[in-house]
Amino acid sequence: MAIPREIVEQILQAAHIEEVVGEFVTLKKRGSNLWGNCPFHNEKTPSFSVNPARNIFKCFGCGKAGDSAKFLMEHEHYTYPEALRYLAKKYNIKIEEKQQTAEEIMQQSIREKMFNINEFADKYFVDTLWNTEEGKTIGLEYFRERGYFDPIIQKFHLGYNPAKWDAFTEHAKKNGYSEELLEQIGLSIKGNNGLYDRYHGRVMFPIHSLTGRVIGFGGRILTNDKKSPKYQNSPESEIYDKKQTLYGIYFAKNAIARQDECILVEGYFDVLRMHQIGIENVVASSGTSLTMEQIRLVKRYTKNITMLYDGDAAGIHAALRGTDMILSEGMNVRVVVLPPEHDPDTFGKEFSTEYVSNYLKENAKDFIRFKTELLLKDAENDPIKRGQVIRDIVETISVIPDSIFRITYVKECSRLLDMPEQTLTNELNKILRSKLKKTLGIEDNVVPETDTTTVTPKQEELLKTSCLRVIIRSVNW
Ligand code: GTP
Ligand code: MN
Repeated sequence: MAIPREIVEQILQAAHIEEVVGEFVTLKKRGSNLWGNCPFHNEKTPSFSVNPARNIFKCFGCGKAGDSAKFLMEHEHYTYPEALRYLAKKYNIKIEEKQQTAEEIMQQSIREKMFNINEFADKYFVDTLWNTEEGKTIGLEYFRERGYFDPIIQKFHLGYNPAKWDAFTEHAKKNGYSEELLEQIGLSIKGNNGLYDRYHGRVMFPIHSLTGRVIGFGGRILTNDKKSPKYQNSPESEIYDKKQTLYGIYFAKNAIARQDECILVEGYFDVLRMHQIGIENVVASSGTSLTMEQIRLVKRYTKNITMLYDGDAAGIHAALRGTDMILSEGMNVRVVVLPPEHDPDTFGKEFSTEYVSNYLKENAKDFIRFKTELLLKDAENDPIKRGQVIRDIVETISVIPDSIFRITYVKECSRLLDMPEQTLTNELNKILRSKLKKTLGIEDNVVPETDTTTVTPKQEELLKTSCLRVIIRSVNW
């Protein structure tokens, strides 16, 4: 252990459990404890308690319990030393490190160096935007031209990287940053004539972690040069894992928890616009399809996701992607489609906050209904296509872990599709059965016995870890 014991004790004493947990979970006071929805398991009524007097948390649902460090290890997947360092930083406690192993120093210092250079770059881009001639006339002007006001430009630390081939790289090197690190973190690229700026001539968006550290960047091109991509993004690194990241989560997390809803958009500018008009529970998937990790990130704060997509065909298509994944996490998904000529950025620019909020409220459609109506419109009077639609919808219903919700959707879809409920239920059970068999490793043509004694220990193990446990109870073999 590299951190001396006295310091560890000092850190743990200084850390107020309600403050530490409060960064990640919305807590409400009831009696002498604070309560919230447990971040470690699925629940609708709070059984997760925080006891400030004893400085511990405990969930009466899943049994997880411990002190501030334990919470961070569970929640942020920190190691014990990482959790302590996080707390030390939060509470301004200086750690005099004892001798570390060479490997510890390496690992620790690579991550720290990366955070460090990103912070340095962030400052440089912001400073260039506001305080240089080129930054002001090109970068700042670009944001203002698009209708962005200073407070939002400042809040999101938007910046500018000069057009000169290696302006930033040179500046960083002069300040002692190594070429190797610059290349590793992706701020610079090695070309035939040496290192140059990845983002030269672009406006800059720092990408923040949940706790507000800069883990990467996105840079938008300002010319019509068709040869370069519109956006350049940081490559992945020890501190930047794209599939775990949502743009804007640091600025949105409190609003997401407060409003118990997360609005999902596609682009950097969509997030900025929504924030500018006062709708702050918004994050962007940054153009890639959603990942399970991103969904779980949102799930720490809310179970309700509203997908807000462009009104064109591509936007609608994007809305259909990734949603089965959200449903399978037991979350509620709604979809809002904008008028065909808009994306969230232009929509928020053209209309007032009130109009946009009302539009969201009035047009948010439950995902299954959205999908049903959409596919049905396509199929219209084609019986073969209709059959496919039905199977497709039932497939989507089958990923929902909660059997009561599944039944509700079957009822609703039976109405929308004008199909007897029983037909849909049969189809649903068929899918659930075949999924279950797959999980249990049973061949499809083998009919399993209802008798539980036929379940082998290995299958039993699978059942314990699988959400299909819920399903097995509701399937009639
Ligand atoms: P504007 O066109 O300036 O309004 O940007 P936008 O943020 O609205 O982008 P758009 O809707 O075109 O794309 C959505 C997101 O996809 C962007 O915010 C980027 O994260 C990502 N993206 C778009 N174009 C590119 C590209 O050329 N390369 C990469 N890597 N990502 C891109
Ligand atoms: Mn846009």
